[in-house]
Amino acid sequence: MVGGGPGAFIGPVHRMAAELDGEIELVAGAFSQSAERSRAAGEMYRIDPDRAYADYRTMLEAERKRDDAIDFVAIVTPNYLHLPVAEAAFRAGFPVMSDKPATATYAEVLSLEQIVNEARLPYGLTHTYAGYALVREAREICASGELGTIRKVAVEYLQGWLSRPIEMSGQKQAAWRANPALNGPGGCIGDIGVHAFHLMEYVTGLHATALQATLLSVVAERRVDDDCTALVELDNGAQAVLMTSQIASGEGNGLRLRAYGEAGSLEWRQEDPNRLRLRWLDGPEEIRHASGSYLSDGARAVTRLPGGHPEGYLEAFAVLYREWAGVLRAWKSGAANPIPETLPGLNAAVRGMRFIERAIESSRQKSWVRF
Ligand SMILES: NC(=O)c1ccc[n+]([C@@H]2O[C@H](COP(=O)([O-])OP(=O)(O)OC[C@H]3O[C@@H](n4cnc5c(N)ncnc54)[C@H](O)[C@@H]3O)[C@@H](O)[C@H]2O)c1
Repeated sequence: MVGGGPGAFIGPVHRMAAELDGEIELVAGAFSQSAERSRAAGEMYRIDPDRAYADYRTMLEAERKRDDAIDFVAIVTPNYLHLPVAEAAFRAGFPVMSDKPATATYAEVLSLEQIVNEARLPYGLTHTYAGYALVREAREICASGELGTIRKVAVEYLQGWLSRPIEMSGQKQAAWRANPALNGPGGCIGDIGVHAFHLMEYVTGLHATALQATLLSVVAERRVDDDCTALVELDNGAQAVLMTSQIASGEGNGLRLRAYGEAGSLEWRQEDPNRLRLRWLDGPEEIRHASGSYLSDGARAVTRLPGGHPEGYLEAFAVLYREWAGVLRAWKSGAANPIPETLPGLNAAVRGMRFIERAIESSRQKSWVRF
């Protein structure tokens, strides 16, 4: 693991999720930019102290030489390090599971694409919400045509934690996110807008062709956007609305997707993730529950517990890691294309960074832009 030092948010989540199914174990890391803090994190994770490295280059060099070397690298650092760490890992021969956004800029993701294609090593991207059973169910419902042609999509992703300028007082997660040099140019759009965009395409199977976005920095003196609204034209002619904000006071992680077809619609909310609501033009409302025996094979395959035992964020993350473990096994046994289409990878990386870049450009021009 690179990142995930003391006080980090997502590194420890990756550790728990990766280990949930007993197929992956955290054994080494460069957890912080400080050697001392990396060592402290190694103690926290209870790994061999010799494998809590001072920096990621030292880690890759040392691990390459071990008989029991790491099998892959998880990248959980601030965004500006995603490309250099991925590149160094690939050059050392290790597959990469990266957190989003794939890179800090669009130009960087094009480099990443080239590097992955040259390295011919697996690359995964942890768009967490793709791991929820009912997101898989929603995706299969859209693909089945049950809803009819999708004509409208609405995705909201509302958080309130950046309602005040907490980056000025050094709040760890806010400080680098508000610094374009460490984060990239897209603030809210890059942090959570990219999740909303991915979820929209992942569930509906539709693709953006054009968009018009307005990005605002609502909090005075904030250096990146903290609120964004985008209209997105989809490749079947439907329109989507993406409303994302980190200054929506009182909101926690208010991600909600609605997709409306000719015959019916679906709604999924991350804060109530074990229920999928379906409403029909000519029929009664339906609620599907996670772990229902009636769910699609794809949804049941990623459910661990019987009905009434709620699964959530950690389990969804673990679904991606379980699929990733399968990818590594298939890759090691010589499979040509080991990445299942349910697991976000390079295509999601490039499209997500393209979305951020296009949204910034549209907001600057105050006009529609082609995707
Ligand atoms: N998938 C999700 O739902 C999700 C959720 C939160 C964050 N993220 C992503 O995860 C990444 C990390 O976010 P976070 O909130 O955990 O940030 P964080 O600030 O809490 O943690 C970042 C960690 O990286 C370490 N780090 C910084 N420079 C380093 C270096 N040179 N070498 C090794 N470690 C270094 C820091 O010391 C820290 O421990 C971001 O890219 C973010 O977008 C994804």
